Amino acid sequence: MEIKGSVALVTGANRGIGREFARALLDRGAAKVYAAVRDPASVADPGLVPLRLDVTDHEQVAAAAAAAGDVSIVINNAGIGGSGSTLLEGGFDGARQAMEVNYFGTWAVSRAFAPVLARNGGGALVNMLSLVSWVGRPDFPGYAASKAAQWSLTNALRQGLHAQGTLVVGVHAGFVDTDLSSWTDAPKISAATVAELTMDALENDRLEVLADAETRKVKAGLSLPPNVVPAI
Ligand SMILES: NC(=O)c1ccc[n+]([C@@H]2O[C@H](COP(=O)([O-])OP(=O)(O)OC[C@H]3O[C@@H](n4cnc5c(N)ncnc54)[C@H](OP(=O)(O)O)[C@@H]3O)[C@@H](O)[C@H]2O)c1
Repeated sequence: MEIKGSVALVTGANRGIGREFARALLDRGAAKVYAAVRDPASVADPGLVPLRLDVTDHEQVAAAAAAAGDVSIVINNAGIGGSGSTLLEGGFDGARQAMEVNYFGTWAVSRAFAPVLARNGGGALVNMLSLVSWVGRPDFPGYAASKAAQWSLTNALRQGLHAQGTLVVGVHAGFVDTDLSSWTDAPKISAATVAELTMDALENDRLEVLADAETRKVKAGLSLPPNVVPAI
């Protein structure tokens, strides 16, 4: 699809990968980019149109869809790590919150904007997923499960929105250098790399982005027999 001249909306566009998505859209010639964020004052980049949106607040989701009726690209980027819920210890609150934001938040925004995209010619819906959409993690099982659920949702949306001509893109990455991954020294790719690869996918109508070598390896290994220690 054509990014040049389009109107886009990015959730969580004030920092991290979302901020790079918004910048990349403007760099590729988007006419308008809504930064859909919990706190509009946190949007520092000129050229973005701040819009209040907590993706877990259904009234705000409905209001955002009404206010941004001109969008043809929606990027579901907002997400949290859901810390505090490890496999054998800790409460479930972090895991529940990760499900609330990453899975139900993406679902709510996608639902609300599906008719907007249909009215504007189909457009595209991009969901920011993860390598752990395919790999359970004992250290952060709640986050991994939320990303697996979000991947399932992405596949359902791809089928469900096909008839209205919406391109549904799933973006998978291992560690990306943002606040979310600041707890680990593991190798990371840049948020700008994820954004550029995603723009390339949009412009070439590709359904999936595998942003780094580890992600490509894990996806390629999905047909192998299960192993105690996955190949990451
Ligand atoms: N970093 C990684 O290693 C990595 C790898 C693969 C996938 N991802 C995914 O990439 C996406 C962006 O992550 P990031 O690394 O850029 O994280 P980040 O730097 O922590 O940024 C998270 C963004 O999500 C927003 N957000 C959180 N809860 C929200 C809510 N309820 N409503 C609206 N916005 C909300 C945050 O807004 P506030 O500023 O208001 O908190 C912030 O803008 C997430 O979906 C994450 O799962 C990250």
